[in-house]
Formats: sequence, C-alpha cells, structure tokens
Amino acid sequence: MMKTLIKNGTVVNATGTATADVLIDGETIAAVLAPGSTLLGFDIERNVDTVIDAAGKYVIPGGIDAHTHMEMPFGGTFASDTFETGTRAAAWGGTTSIVDFVVQYPEESVIDRYQAWHEKAAGNCAIDYGFHQILSDVQDSSLTAMDELMNEGVTSFKLFMAYKGVFLSDDGQILRAFQRGAENGAMMMMHAENGAMIDVLVKQALEAGNTSPYHHGITRPWQAEEEATHRAIMIADLTGAPLYVVHVSAKQAVAQIAAARDRGLNIFGETCPQYLYLSLEDQLGAEGFEGAKWVCSTPLRSKHEGHQHHMWQSLRTNDIQMVSTDHCPFCMKDQKDMGIGDFSKIPNGIGSVEHRMDLMYQGVVTGQISLPRWVELTSTTPARMFGMYGRKGVIQPGADGDVVIYDPNGHTSIGLNKTHHMNMDYSAWEGFEIDGHVDTVLSRGRVIVDDKQYIGSKGDGRYIKRGLSQYLI
Ligand code: URP
Ligand code: ZN
Ligand code: ZN
Ligand code: ZN
Repeated sequence: MMKTLIKNGTVVNATGTATADVLIDGETIAAVLAPGSTLLGFDIERNVDTVIDAAGKYVIPGGIDAHTHMEMPFGGTFASDTFETGTRAAAWGGTTSIVDFVVQYPEESVIDRYQAWHEKAAGNCAIDYGFHQILSDVQDSSLTAMDELMNEGVTSFKLFMAYKGVFLSDDGQILRAFQRGAENGAMMMMHAENGAMIDVLVKQALEAGNTSPYHHGITRPWQAEEEATHRAIMIADLTGAPLYVVHVSAKQAVAQIAAARDRGLNIFGETCPQYLYLSLEDQLGAEGFEGAKWVCSTPLRSKHEGHQHHMWQSLRTNDIQMVSTDHCPFCMKDQKDMGIGDFSKIPNGIGSVEHRMDLMYQGVVTGQISLPRWVELTSTTPARMFGMYGRKGVIQPGADGDVVIYDPNGHTSIGLNKTHHMNMDYSAWEGFEIDGHVDTVLSRGRVIVDDKQYIGSKGDGRYIKRGLSQYLI
C-alpha cells in the first residue's frame, strides 16, 4: 500500500481553508495535519513512499461532474467521447468522479439499459463513475425498475419535458415517477423546457427559412424554460419528491427555483459553465454554420437580458447549488454538420468536462465566488446532492484519496490547436485564457496526472454505488 504525503499546501474545503499536510494511505486520506507535525511521535515524511510539495498551491477534493453523457446515442449519432476518452479528459482537468446518464428510450427496458451502461464503462474509466437513470416513457415496469435501481446505487432519475417521441414524458407520467421517487427517497431530475411550445416554434422558423444555428436559441425561449421549471416544481410539491433542475440557463427559471426554496421545498438547481460565459449573440450567432458548436439545450441566452450576471449571483446566494458540465460532445464533421440547412438536426450538446474546474476557478479570480465556494459548487455539493459525501467531496480522514493540487499561479490556454484531451474536432472554449492550472491529480491515492502528463490507465476508475441525497432540508 502506497503512502503519499502532500505537504505545505493550502487545503481548501467547502468549510474553509488551512495550511496543512495531507497523508494518504493506500486509497484513503489518513490524516490532515498541521505542517510538519508528527503522528504520535512518528516521523511521517520519513515513512511515506512519496512526498509532494504543494507550497503555494491549493489542495482540493477532486472535482465531481454530476452531469455527463459519454457515448450517448442522440440525434442519430453518439456523443463523441467514450467512457475512456471522456474520463481521461476529466482527469486532466481535475475532475475525479463523474455521474453519467443511463439512457432509456421508449419501449426499451430500463434495467437492460442500466446494464448496458455498466458494460460500456467497466474497465474503461480513468476515474470513478456513478449513474443517474433517464426515464423516457414511464410504464409500470419503469416504476419497479426505479425500486431495483435504488439498491444498485442509482438514486436519481431524470425526466424530460421536451423532445417529443424521443425523451418527453407527459405530466401524468412525470407525476407517477415523482410519486415513486418520493416513496423511495430518490432525487428526481428534470430537463425543464416546454417541448410542445418549442416544437411549434421550430416548425415555424424552418418554414420561414430561418435555418441557422442562431434559431436554435430563438425557438427555445426563456418562457419555455420558466414555464416548465414552474410545472416541475408544482409536481414535486404535490408529490413530495425532491427536485433537481438540470442545466438552468434563464434567470426567470432561477427565480422559480428561488421562490420554491423560499417556501422550504427541496428544490435545487444546477447550471453549467456555458451559461456563465457564452451567449446567444456571440456564440450561437457566429458566422455561417459556426454557431453549431454551441447548440445545446437549454440554449445559450441573450447577453442583453442579464442571465449571466444573475446566474453568477445565484451561485453566491445558493439559489443555484452546483455547477456541472452537461458534457455531451459532438464533432463538427459528420455530427454537428448533419444540421447544415436545418438547425433542428444539429445534435445538441457541448463538451466541457475537461475545463469545468478551470472555468469555475475564474470566478474566484474575478471575485465572483470565494475559494471555498469554488470547491463547494464543483465537488462538495455534488457529493452531498447525490449521496457520495464523506467518501467524495471533502479532504478529511476516511475520504477517498481523490485530491487535486491546483496552482493559482499557473496558466492554461484552452483549445488552441486541439490541446484539449476530449475527443472533439473543435473546442467550445477555444481562446479562453485561464489563470490557474491543474498540476497533480490523485484518484483513490494514485497519482494519475502529474504536471503535463497523464500516468493513469483505463480501468482505474470504479463504479460508485451512491446512497441517498445528503442535501435535503
Ligand atoms: O444539449 C444537451 N443538453 N444535450 C444533452 C442532453 C440533455 O438534455 O442534457
Ligand atoms: Zn437535458
Ligand atoms: Zn444533459
Ligand atoms: Zn503547472
């Protein structure tokens, strides 16, 4: 069993910072100590295998990205990152756990799909991974599958109010799934957009000859997001199920979540880096077909409506509790380009799993969020929200040795000449200059990224059997 000492770093947890040494014994954090201390007279430094000097650097719990879609079948193709390439890219960026979505399409067996996801992931992941389950047509068998999956460590279920014929559940189906979720103590997750409204707007736009990527944004207006968010909250309130609204982009949807929380409900919201930095005009509205790079749902919002400013604020006020990527990459060639001449055929999704920790650290650099809040939004709350806390999301004795050494004086230039490690032929973040740098990444006590070198292997990552949410009021 390898023993590693990370010394002289600034340990950052959601609760605060301290200069401390972190001792990792095998896969587990054994002690967090004042620098240079001995353990019952025992000279630690002389009794470990590896000493890492983290002076001047932050020692943080590894990032947890609770919203990814590796190899997701969608829009007639597959998300371009496999579990192998996607989790390796995540490791490069300081993320040591993901929670990926098992996809079930109408008529498919939920349990079969769950097993298929295990087959895709097992032996291929660089970091630990858990699963949420997507339910697309709620049958009686889906409800019994929900019961079964709770025992498998799948304690959260995503439903969709959009994508008719693909993912959409009607309100009655949603109600039934939420009732079962409430009985089981599950976390219900919602893609909150009014699909019926969107389908009409898309048809009208295409008929009027408005076929460019920009119109993807125009046909998914904030009203569709606000309305669906409100409806999802009402169903959660009625059934008593806790609700986690994924990829929130509109300030009006945030207001719905905030109002529900003010009423004491277990309603939570997630946003993604794209909604904090990118816009309808500057990215989706780019020249020609370029905007396809940023086609995702919910869409990028107008920079003239104050969504970004409001979203950063909601990260401070805890109206929005966490930041995930919704990593769902597609290449421009042979994937996004299926939608040339018809934006509705562009596969939806952006790839960011590698950049989330860096992008969110910029919020610390610019004074939008504090250092502990950075860790809370990207690691600690994801762990608590989805039943992993204690093992994940914190630097403390007994936790997994998932540790990132982050150099605030380092620098990262994103994207240029495909310097990223995601399996994409472009970067949605090209040109972003990051103050800060992921130096070293440990996954369960083993160094898997050593400055500018990935030294892990596929299959290092293990399945995380999750418990119930530890975030409920
Ligand atoms: O555009 C997106 N978000 N693609 C992934 C599927 C989803 O709705 O999360
Ligand atoms: Zn979604
Ligand atoms: Zn998603
Ligand atoms: Zn460095």
